[in-house]
Amino acid sequence: MTRVLVVGSINMDLVVSSPRLPRLGETVMGYGFATYPGGKGANQAVAASRLGAEVAMLGCLGGDEFGVQLRANLEREGVDIRHVREVDVPSGVATITVSDCDNATLVVPGANCRVTPEHLDEAEQAFADTDVVLSQLEIPLKTVRHAAMLAGRYGKPMLLNPAPAIPLPEDLLSRITLLTPNEHEFLTMLAEPTGDWRNLLVQHPGKLVMSHGKHGAYYASSAGELRHEPGYVVDAVDSTGAGDTFNGALATFLPLGLKEAVRRANAAGALSVTRHGAQSGMPTLTELEAFLEGQP
Ligand code: RIB
Repeated sequence: MTRVLVVGSINMDLVVSSPRLPRLGETVMGYGFATYPGGKGANQAVAASRLGAEVAMLGCLGGDEFGVQLRANLEREGVDIRHVREVDVPSGVATITVSDCDNATLVVPGANCRVTPEHLDEAEQAFADTDVVLSQLEIPLKTVRHAAMLAGRYGKPMLLNPAPAIPLPEDLLSRITLLTPNEHEFLTMLAEPTGDWRNLLVQHPGKLVMSHGKHGAYYASSAGELRHEPGYVVDAVDSTGAGDTFNGALATFLPLGLKEAVRRANAAGALSVTRHGAQSGMPTLTELEAFLEGQP
């Protein structure tokens, strides 16, 4: 069983279903509203836990009702929440408009901004006790940098899902074992807005996996050859959390080697879009295996 330490965000998602996205200044009538547990960190933790990993989460919640619900959700999902702190700012929220299977999201980080390097130092033993560290960019960048440093101190691989994307400083890039942008985040992360992702990918053998929605994922082998693991055809209803499911699965299956981990992560990501909400469609290990067995 892979042990995964997730250092990241926890949000409540306020989700509106709408026939289309409103333009600036326009009002559009939506047809559904629901709240779902979310946040890239929590989503990745839940994805890994459902797939059989032993998951610990390091993050922050407010002392509000959303905080109570989000904490209970992580606990129900079997995630170790010893290092989830309550702080005196509101829990993170995301407003998400879902239209035609795609989504537009606005995140107010709130308590997630309180995930500090000091918080990580106090939980340092968790870095010693894990197999993989997994993080994203909805917590302060200095905290992600510190997580990479602590992962390095204990010789643990550090996966960074650079979402939401920003250009990453060179010192952080060099400390990360595996970067997992999607096709949009890839060029932003490398500060190469006009670059050719295929060329850039092969310049980072074994260090970058680029997810590409229903097309699957691309990476460069350690010999520098471009590799493609195809995606899977499913009936998609909501793509929110697909990237998080991919990342949680990738961390969980990393000990099987990059090719197999990417194959399984693609399948898990595909299954996740078949239900509404970031976490609702995330498969269990049994569901994932049954799905893969049914593939040609
Ligand atoms: O990746 C999806 C997540 O992004 C949502 O759950 C939302 O909380 C935002 O963080």
